[in-house]
Amino acid sequence: KKIDWDVDAAEKGGYEHFMLKEMYEQPKAITDTFSPRLKDGMIEIEELNMTEEEIKSIQKIMIVACGSAYHTGMTAKYVFEEMARIPVEVDVASEFRYRNPIITDNTLVMVISQSGETADTLAALREAKERGAKVLGVVNVVGSSIAREADGVMYTWAGPEIAVATTKAYSAQLIALYLLAMKMSQVRGTIDADQLTGMIEDLKSLPTQVEMLLENKKKIQKFANRYQAAEQIFFIGRGIDYAISQEGSLKLKEISYIHSEAYAAGELKHGTISLVEEGTLVVSVLTQEPLYKKMISNMEEVRTRGAFVMAVTVEGNLEAEKAADYVLYIPKTNEYFMNSLAIIPLQLFAYEIAVGRGCDVDKPRNLAKSVTVE
Ligand code: G6P
Repeated sequence: KKIDWDVDAAEKGGYEHFMLKEMYEQPKAITDTFSPRLKDGMIEIEELNMTEEEIKSIQKIMIVACGSAYHTGMTAKYVFEEMARIPVEVDVASEFRYRNPIITDNTLVMVISQSGETADTLAALREAKERGAKVLGVVNVVGSSIAREADGVMYTWAGPEIAVATTKAYSAQLIALYLLAMKMSQVRGTIDADQLTGMIEDLKSLPTQVEMLLENKKKIQKFANRYQAAEQIFFIGRGIDYAISQEGSLKLKEISYIHSEAYAAGELKHGTISLVEEGTLVVSVLTQEPLYKKMISNMEEVRTRGAFVMAVTVEGNLEAEKAADYVLYIPKTNEYFMNSLAIIPLQLFAYEIAVGRGCDVDKPRNLAKSVTVE
């Protein structure tokens, strides 16, 4: 028994949980995913297996994934559409398979999966191939079924992930998707050389910025302590911030068992706002400058109904302080990359609440790391 415990402790490298260890491995996962693809100020993705002509001819991208991987796909939709001007549809794999999707010769299907073994994602890949689509896998586990069956693979170099709730694989997926969007935008001429250079510089700063954000653990723990007994917590955001909110909400509910919902901030008044009561915590994500004003008015909307508003926003956004009861700042980066920073305080928040409630953080009830049944 004692030996088991020692082995276990050693594997966690001194961290209390695998999830915490893996959160701290994110700067490395990010670096390992982008650095092999940066060559002489350009992006080279050798495994992509697509010619420039093929990249230029893409008319539609369909992203298919489950769980957190689906959330990185939601982020990617905003990034690809804005940066590369390619229309993107995002589906959860179990829906995609059965909805008779419209796939043409110039449709690229992207399947995203940490394990590369998720049954629904694998079946969706097969369905897409059968319908004649070119399939690109964004996968973490080398040699997994999805990696083998896809026409091209872009590996995320996050290393093995043990905790059921994904953190570093999620962060590495985001980086892989940014790189793909940047590469396609460059080939299709929707960004110029200066923009690309600026983005590469911002990418290179992300690991240090993530490291800095991880230093807020104590502060977030203090805040999380106040909400241990919460019955429900809401997350709101717009655009990319809506995608971040969904992942933040999933992290929280899957490991702490507190009911949580993420809402597109503008949609709140069409439903969820009826659930807001005196003291309800509403986590508001606002990292997209053009949407600050809209977000602030949504924060005020819930606050006047008694909500306690916690904001995650970018340094310098002092307006947020007036509309929020508590603010966590993230440093500035390219607007497309904000998810990589904003997710860090949300992961820490979910983790601290779950630990405070005495939950089995690494192995939440009823959940599996890799779901190989339909
Ligand atoms: C499970 C895990 C999630 C994960 C999802 C997709 O539900 O608990 O954390 O996001 O599967 O897994 P994949 O390996 O395909 O990324």
